[in-house]
Amino acid sequence: MVLASTVKLNSGNSIPVLGLGVYQTPTDVADSVVQKALDIGYRHFDSAAAYKNEQEVADAIGAWLKKNPNVKRKDIFYTTKVFDTEHGYEATKKLIATSLEKAKAIDYIDLFLVHSPQSNYEKRHGTWLALQEAVESGKVKNIGVSNYGIKHIKELLAYPDLNIKPAVNQIELHPWLGRADLVKYLKDEGIAVEAYSPLARGPRSKRVDDPALGEFAKKYGKTNGQILIAWSLAKGFIPLPKTVTESRLISNFESLNFKLSDEDIKKLDAFDVYGVTGWDPTVYPLDNEKEENK
Ligand SMILES: NC(=O)c1ccc[n+]([C@@H]2O[C@H](COP(=O)([O-])OP(=O)(O)OC[C@H]3O[C@@H](n4cnc5c(N)ncnc54)[C@H](OP(=O)(O)O)[C@@H]3O)[C@@H](O)[C@H]2O)c1
Repeated sequence: MVLASTVKLNSGNSIPVLGLGVYQTPTDVADSVVQKALDIGYRHFDSAAAYKNEQEVADAIGAWLKKNPNVKRKDIFYTTKVFDTEHGYEATKKLIATSLEKAKAIDYIDLFLVHSPQSNYEKRHGTWLALQEAVESGKVKNIGVSNYGIKHIKELLAYPDLNIKPAVNQIELHPWLGRADLVKYLKDEGIAVEAYSPLARGPRSKRVDDPALGEFAKKYGKTNGQILIAWSLAKGFIPLPKTVTESRLISNFESLNFKLSDEDIKKLDAFDVYGVTGWDPTVYPLDNEKEENK
């Protein structure tokens, strides 16, 4: 079995370069999907409080580890996120305790992200302080952000009591949404880039069926999905494709087994149309940009 290689985060910990997204993975199939994914070789799972399946995903990892004592907890990477409605120091502390309770089958959380910057300075700041404390407790190993634009990261890096820099920014990325400026900024700051919706949300945007993408699939003898995941890996992102379909769990994972040429990566880069398929909180205003403060 080929496992995904890992990369080092700025925290010093490692993260597998390919993860399984579980947004919209129903609770009644989460156990079988996650255990099947672990059988295939996935070692990285991306959940969130808002996905309402933290318990099922963590329990599935815990159950699988019991059946596979040759694989250790430290070889698996589990992420969750604090949603916008729980921003602020006290609310986030409570949320972290709840998420840890749901993850008790796996003892600790590898990565806790701020799901988006959509609140205000005081609440974002409080949330970050609560996450920093969680790392000190040892029950959360790494912390980061999601959907942060450059301005949100600059605001965070200027907190007077910043002890821990974000290890990761998780953002929507695929050839139709390259976000070159944000990606360059993150790389320069040593913040790892996780790519969500790497398949441009499959049937939702239908971009995965784009005939222009199909030309690359034909050339490499791969599926359209595999070309998208290989592009993400080639860009140095950590893609998080979601599927509940067993054949796609396998084929998406097999994207690790081939490489696109530099020329084809550039051709795929040229698909960029700032094609957001979901929400785009990277443009959410800072307090001083909000209408009511002008
Ligand atoms: N931080 C955030 O705000 C945020 C936002 C969105 C997503 N995410 C994370 O990123 C993960 C992935 O993003 P996503 O779920 O939005 O979208 P995605 O991974 O781009 O696409 C998932 C969709 O594509 C289908 N699919 C999977 N493999 C395929 C393939 N090889 N060919 C064609 N279709 C395929 C899936 O269907 P089936 O499942 O039916 O196979 C599903 O409908 C999420 O699960 C979540 O963990 C984070």
